Amino acid sequence: MKKNILYAQSGGVTPVINATACGVIETARQNRDRIGKVLAGRDGIIGVLREELIDTTRERKADIAGLRHTPGGAFGSCRYKLRSIEESRREYERLIEVLKAHNVGYFFYNGGGDSADTAYKVSQIGKKLGFPVQCIGVPKTIDNDLPVTDNCPGFGSVAKYVAVSILEASLDVASMASSSTKVFILEVMGRHAGWIAAAGALAQREDGDPPHVILFPEIPFDRKAFLARVKQAVETHGYCSIVVSEGVRGPDGRFLAEAGTRDAFGHAQLGGAAPVVAEIVKDGLGYKYHWAVSDYLQRSARHIASETDVEQAWAVGAAAVKLALEGKSGVMPVIKRVSNDPYRWKIAETRLSRVANREKKMPRSYITKNGFGITPSARRYLEPLIRGEAYPPYDKHGLPKYVRLKKAMVKKVLPEFEV
Ligand code: F6P
Repeated sequence: MKKNILYAQSGGVTPVINATACGVIETARQNRDRIGKVLAGRDGIIGVLREELIDTTRERKADIAGLRHTPGGAFGSCRYKLRSIEESRREYERLIEVLKAHNVGYFFYNGGGDSADTAYKVSQIGKKLGFPVQCIGVPKTIDNDLPVTDNCPGFGSVAKYVAVSILEASLDVASMASSSTKVFILEVMGRHAGWIAAAGALAQREDGDPPHVILFPEIPFDRKAFLARVKQAVETHGYCSIVVSEGVRGPDGRFLAEAGTRDAFGHAQLGGAAPVVAEIVKDGLGYKYHWAVSDYLQRSARHIASETDVEQAWAVGAAAVKLALEGKSGVMPVIKRVSNDPYRWKIAETRLSRVANREKKMPRSYITKNGFGITPSARRYLEPLIRGEAYPPYDKHGLPKYVRLKKAMVKKVLPEFEV
């Protein structure tokens, strides 16, 4: 009997996570002779535990294709930590019960490092409980901090958004600088890794181009050196354009901005570094400033996605199905860079245990000696990832035609389960 795929999205979404869902579903539909249905967990693993499963076979072909250009997480995502098998045994058992009840032979978990860990654990418990399920992690994170893979689906589009935003905002501040605003600060996500902040530097074409300062989580914030750099930029160029990562820490190791809340994985909720940096500029130099926190805007900006990113996001979804058909489990498709010039990439695979719970930060060799910019090698790495445009179609009202799925639920057959 053909087995079903259970696909779930996890963690913070990206502008292209649905392109991955599209890759999974389209490829599974092409292999109808060997694969049953693609079911999707509503709100990720939480929906799986509650037996809230969406039957994607009820969605129209055009809507599945439309996922390729629709941001957000089409089936809902979650931050929910499955602890060790010993601590959360009941949850793992329930997962296996749900998989069994719905004839699931393949579990695809689309997320970052924490999700790779979950997928890995599910593959282990499946074996232990005598219901082996093929578990495939599917990479995604705007933070670009997964090891092994050259880059992470989702990152290229956010990188493009940040590069374009700082380019455009810098044109604004440059126009106002002679009589008004002298400093503009853009805060970007990325948690403990500075990849997204680094992408701001892609806006530079010539020496002296903005952004003049990038603040990385990898470099402890040095107030004096920072203010000197801002002053120098204003005196040289008339203004100073800054990109600050939400994960910047002071010399004492504390985040410049921490909202005070933590998610299920124990990660501090970050955000608010830009106003802190703006205060420092005001106190230290007295310049007029503006700041912006790109927050969810960067994570959902599908209108300015990188074509490379969209293609890679689709490809990892398709590759997950192929790995499943090859009988693989406990693995993740990854992106391998074949060459820089011309940029070429292919899909390879790695073991989930090599990806789980590990963060890949910016290497020191990618950050300039003064700590405020990126090196040529970082530029070589980053540039191809934002290449190409993949605009969504627009309707007559001037809005992108994003799809809304029917999300028909599969009939529940098990008792309720409290999550
Ligand atoms: O991990 C992706 C990410 O977007 C981080 O860059 C950010 O710190 C975090 O998620 C925000 O998470 P949430 O949406 O759960 O607050």
